[in-house]
Amino acid sequence: MKRIDLKVFTIAMAIAVVLSVSLSARAQDAAGLFKSKCAACHGADGTGSATGKKMGAHDFTTAEVQGLSDAQLTDIITNGKNKMPKYASLPPEQIKGLVAYIRTLKK
Ligand code: HEC
Repeated sequence: MKRIDLKVFTIAMAIAVVLSVSLSARAQDAAGLFKSKCAACHGADGTGSATGKKMGAHDFTTAEVQGLSDAQLTDIITNGKNKMPKYASLPPEQIKGLVAYIRTLKK
């Protein structure tokens, strides 16, 4: 009985480690993705580059953008809006990561 408990415990720990590693990898992915695909217009800090502002991008750190729901942010990233290009080719998982990343930019 004791031996089985130890086995279950070991497996549970292994799963926990794998999960936490993949979660933090995903958070890093989102940051990297934002830098490579979005920062040109939105700036690394989300406040918007000169180019982005000229096109009408809004400051991600403000209540104006943070006040949008996750569904609205997902929709804008997926389908685009005016000069914002659409990213429908990104897997939903990555778009979700980007939305979560935008939330971290809140001031
Ligand atoms: C070519 C420049 C450009 C790129 C690249 C770009 N965006 Fe945008 N984005 C815009 C513009 C311009 C708007 C404003 C759209 C409007 O409301 O007219 C916008 C709007 C947004 C909004 C809604 C808030 C706001 O500023 O109005 C979100 C969220 C957003 N972009 C996320 C992203 C993400 C995530 C990426 C990368 C996957 C990205 N954008 C890449 C130009 C860009």
